[in-house]
Amino acid sequence: MQHQVMEKNLVDYKLHVGDQPHHDRAHKLKIKVENVNFWYGEKQALKNVSLDIYNQEVTAFIGPSGCGKTTLLRCLNRTNEIIPDTRMTGLVTLDGEDIYSDEIEATTLRRRFGWVAQKPNPFPWSVYHNVAYGARLHGLVSTRAETDELVQSCLERAGLWNEVKDRLREPGTALSGGQQQRLCVARAISTKPDIILMDEPASALDPRATAHLEAMIESLREKYCIIIITHNMQQAARVSQRTAFFHLGELLEQGDTEEIFIRPQNDLCRDYITGRFG
Ligand SMILES: Nc1ncnc2c1ncn2[C@@H]1O[C@H](COP(=O)(O)OP(=O)(O)O)[C@@H](O)[C@H]1O
Ligand SMILES: [Mg+2]
Repeated sequence: MQHQVMEKNLVDYKLHVGDQPHHDRAHKLKIKVENVNFWYGEKQALKNVSLDIYNQEVTAFIGPSGCGKTTLLRCLNRTNEIIPDTRMTGLVTLDGEDIYSDEIEATTLRRRFGWVAQKPNPFPWSVYHNVAYGARLHGLVSTRAETDELVQSCLERAGLWNEVKDRLREPGTALSGGQQQRLCVARAISTKPDIILMDEPASALDPRATAHLEAMIESLREKYCIIIITHNMQQAARVSQRTAFFHLGELLEQGDTEEIFIRPQNDLCRDYITGRFG
């Protein structure tokens, strides 16, 4: 009986991953995480985590709440070190370079990452200014024409341009929730990052807005390295090429998304993706 239930779940997942391209090993290694441990005070949140993340792919981080997914994202862009009384050991390289080396400045490194949070959080300014702000601040654009062009191209990539091209002067907060989240993606890519980190970006969205966001992620993959944390297993199966399963601070399984969803090797991973615990 139990076996049957599981078979059924796996078939469902198979349907969802059916036309998903297999992880393409020709893609370039972007980020390498080696034996990373992380502590908040006495509490160890990551235990000996090693993981490869590839360019032009979506990597999904899955696992129950509190298992260290967000902590690992913050180790990648060095925002963890802003939190007092924390400690990290291990190695993280980006394009082969140790991101914690003395030669690398944290603020410069952070600009290589865009961050999309759980709840859409546009600035309380116009749609236009939400996207233009960071690029102006960092001197990536100077003239009005350059700024217009950047705003348009970021909104296009975020799949939002057609919906807002006549509303650029309206406040970003006047858009629907799904549009606000895509605006936050446009903002995240306006400073020309090469990696986009998304921490449960669809958790506040309805199914239609979620589908829109997922389509956008698929089109962004061509240009970026994307990591998405999600509690929605079908979403992980749909949008990602690689998946990493975390449990109590440990990385228990990683690999090709299709392999993991159809033939998980780790018992806890199988139980988690088939909904036995969460
Ligand atoms: N700022 C913090 N201070 C202390 N403990 C934290 C902090 N952030 C997270 N933690 C703890 O670290 C563990 C991992 O948290 P987190 O990375 O947020 O997990 P996840 O994103 O998988 O839900 C949890 O036990 C959490 O309570
Ligand atoms: Mg989290």
